[in-house]
Amino acid sequence: MSIAYNEAAKTITIQTVETEYQMAIDRYGCLRHVYYGRTVGGEDLRELHRSYDRGFSGSPYRAGSDRAYSLDTVCQEFSSCGVGDFRVPSLGVQNADGSRCAELRYVSHEIRAGKYSLPGLPAAWDPDGSAETLEIILRDPVTGLTVRLLYGVFPERNVITRTAIYENGGAEPIVLEKAGSVCLELPFGSWDLLHFHGRHCLERKPERLPVMNGVQTVGSRRGMSSHEHNPFLILCDRQATEDHGECIGLMYLWSGSFRAEVEREQFGSVRAVLSPGDESFRWTLAPGERFAAPEVLLSRAEGLTRLSQQFHRMVRENVCRGEYRLAHRPVLINSWEAAYFDIRADRILDLARRAADLGMELFVLDDGWFHGRTDDNAGLGDWFENREKLPEGLDSLIRGIRETGLLFGLWVEPEMVSENSDLYRAHPDWALAVPDRAPMLGRNQLVLDLSRREVQDYIIEAMSGLLERYDISYVKWDFNRSVSDLYSHTLPAERQGEAGHRYVLGLYRVLETLTARFPGVLFEGCSGGGGRFDAGMLYYTPQIWCSDDTDPIERLTIQGGTSYGYPISTMGAHVSASPNHQTGRTTPLQTRGYVAMSGAFGYELDLAKLSEGELEEIRHQIQHFRQDEALLQQGLYYRLDEFTEAQDASAWLFVSEDRSRALLNVVVRSPHANAPLIHLKLKGLDPDARYAMEEDDAVRSGAALMYGGYTLPQLIGDYPAVQLHLKKID
Ligand code: DGJ
Repeated sequence: MSIAYNEAAKTITIQTVETEYQMAIDRYGCLRHVYYGRTVGGEDLRELHRSYDRGFSGSPYRAGSDRAYSLDTVCQEFSSCGVGDFRVPSLGVQNADGSRCAELRYVSHEIRAGKYSLPGLPAAWDPDGSAETLEIILRDPVTGLTVRLLYGVFPERNVITRTAIYENGGAEPIVLEKAGSVCLELPFGSWDLLHFHGRHCLERKPERLPVMNGVQTVGSRRGMSSHEHNPFLILCDRQATEDHGECIGLMYLWSGSFRAEVEREQFGSVRAVLSPGDESFRWTLAPGERFAAPEVLLSRAEGLTRLSQQFHRMVRENVCRGEYRLAHRPVLINSWEAAYFDIRADRILDLARRAADLGMELFVLDDGWFHGRTDDNAGLGDWFENREKLPEGLDSLIRGIRETGLLFGLWVEPEMVSENSDLYRAHPDWALAVPDRAPMLGRNQLVLDLSRREVQDYIIEAMSGLLERYDISYVKWDFNRSVSDLYSHTLPAERQGEAGHRYVLGLYRVLETLTARFPGVLFEGCSGGGGRFDAGMLYYTPQIWCSDDTDPIERLTIQGGTSYGYPISTMGAHVSASPNHQTGRTTPLQTRGYVAMSGAFGYELDLAKLSEGELEEIRHQIQHFRQDEALLQQGLYYRLDEFTEAQDASAWLFVSEDRSRALLNVVVRSPHANAPLIHLKLKGLDPDARYAMEEDDAVRSGAALMYGGYTLPQLIGDYPAVQLHLKKID
C-alpha cells in the first residue's frame, strides 16, 4: 500500500515511487500538514514543526494555556476560516446565524484500493488499477459542515490527486463563499512561483517570480480558464533549474473561473490554495446537500524537466480518454486560414483533393458552413447547412471529401448563440443576460445558459443530430468569448452566485454524453485558440487548438510554455501560410513544419497557392512526421533553451523511453550576423551507448552528446530550423 496510517503517532503517510506526503492529527484534532517532498523512507518528520508562543497568534479556546499552539502558525492540511488562522483560507462560509466561521477538525479516515471518481466532474482515472484512495473526514463541530478530503495516489506517476467534497451535516443551510479544492503548505525554503499567463494569440507564457510576502493571485473571472492565466502553476526552489531543485506542480482539472492564491506569511511559510470561481462564487448547501470541488493533480520532482515529464504522462494516460488517447491522430487540413468564411463546395473539394494527394488524412470544415453564417455576426445556434454556400447540401460535400480518401471533421460553437438566429428568436431566455440589463456582446454573440438542463439537452441533441446524420470523424468544439452577465432564469435570487459554476458542470455533462455516445469521434477543444486549454477539457477532448497565433516563431513561446504541464499530443499545431496571417512574418516551410510537428500536427493554408516545390516539401514533411510520430507524441520531452537563449534560438529534444531514439529540434528566433556558435548538451541519452546521427552519418557516444554536447553548423537565413535524428546502434 502507498498509504499508511500509524495509530500510535496518528500520522498518515502517502508514498509514491519518488515522493512522500505526510500529515498528522494533532492533540486538538487539527489535521496538520507535515511534509511533501522527496521520499524520506517513511521517517516521521513532525519534529520539523516547532512552535513558540507568538504575539497576535492566539490559541483555540480549548487549548487553554497552551499558548504555543495557534491555528495561525501550524501547517494545516485544509485551512479553516474565521477562527484564528489569518492566512489564506481554504474555504469561506456564511452560516445560518450570519457568522463566517468554520473550524475543521479531524473525524475519521479511510484507505481503499482504486481511485475515487467524481461524478459530473473530470477526474484522473486509473486504467491499470494501481491507484489508491485516501479519504479524510473533517467536520466543524458547531454547524456540522463536513469536508471530505480525497487523495488519489498514482505511485508510478509520482502524482497525488486531491479534492474536497463539502457536505452540510447540520440542520441549517450553509452558504459556501469559497470552496477550495486543495491547500498545500510549504513551511520551509525560498520559493519561486512559475505561472503561465498571456492573452488571445499569446497563451501560456511562462513567468517566474519570487513568492513575495503577501498573497499572489492568478485566476480567471471570464467563466473559462482563459488565455490570460492558465490553471496550472509550479512552485519551485529559487535555485531550481530544468535539471535540479525542488519543483511542485498543481494542475487544475477545471475549465471555468478559478483562483490560485499563493501566500508567504509572516514567518516565511508558503501556502497555496486553488478554488473554483471568483469573488462572485456562492453555493448554498441545504441540509444534507453536497458540493464537490474540482480535482487538482499534484506532482513533485527534481527539476522542471522531470516535473513536466511526470505531468505529460499523467495527462496523456490518466486524464485523456477515448480511442485517440494514445493512438495515431490523423494529419489534418483545416479550412479556416485557407478560406475563412468563404466556404464554397468547389473550393473546399479542391482543397480536399490537394490535401489527400499530399498524404493528409482528415479535412476539417471550419467556421462559415452553417445557416446564416456569412461572417461572425450571425448564425450561431442554427446548426444546419448554409444552402446558399452549399447548394448540394453538407452531405454531398462530405461524400465528395470522403471520396478523396480523407476523413471529415466539422467546426461547431455550440455554447453560443447569435441574436440573428432561429434559436435565439425561439428561446431568447436561453442566453445569459441579467433582467433589465443589456448583456455584453463578444464577437457579436451571446452565451447560452448551460446551467439549464433543457439547454444542455438541446446542445446534446443538436450535436447528436449532426453526428448521426453525417459521416463525421472529428469535431472542433470552439468557444469564442468570455462569459459575463451571469444570471440564470432557473435559479432563485439567492442562488445566482452558482450560475457560473453550474455552467461548467452543464458543459461537462454535454461533453460526457457526446463523447460516450460517439466514442469513435475525435474531439478537439478550442476557445479562440487556447482560451480553455486545461486538464478539465482534456478529459473530454484529447487535443486542444493551442493558439490562434500560427506564426511558428510565436508558437515557440506558446508551445514551449504549454509544455511545462501539458503533453505534446494535446497541443493542436498547424503549418499555416507565409507571410503569416497574424504577424505578417515570412518563415520557411521547414521551420513551420518542425514547429507544428511538436504538437497534434496539421495544416491550415490554401494549398492552391503553393508552388510545386512547396507541395513536394509538404509531402515529405508528412512522411517524416509519420516516421517520428511515436517519438514526438510519446517520447520524453526536454526543453533546451538554457543553451540557446543567448543566440536567440529555441531548442527542444524528444527521447524515446528506451533511449534508443532521439530527435533534436532547433529554430533560430532572430537571425544575427556573425552569430556565436550554437552549442548544446543533449539530455536523457544512454551515456554508454553509441548513436548514429541520420543527418551527418557520424556516430557519437551518448556521453559525448550529453557531456561534450553538439555544435550546430552555421544557421543563416530567415528563421532557419534543423531537426536531427539520433539512433542507438550499440
Ligand atoms: C477561433 C478558432 O481558434 C479558429 O481556429 C477558428 O476556428 C475561428 N474561431 C472560427 O471562427
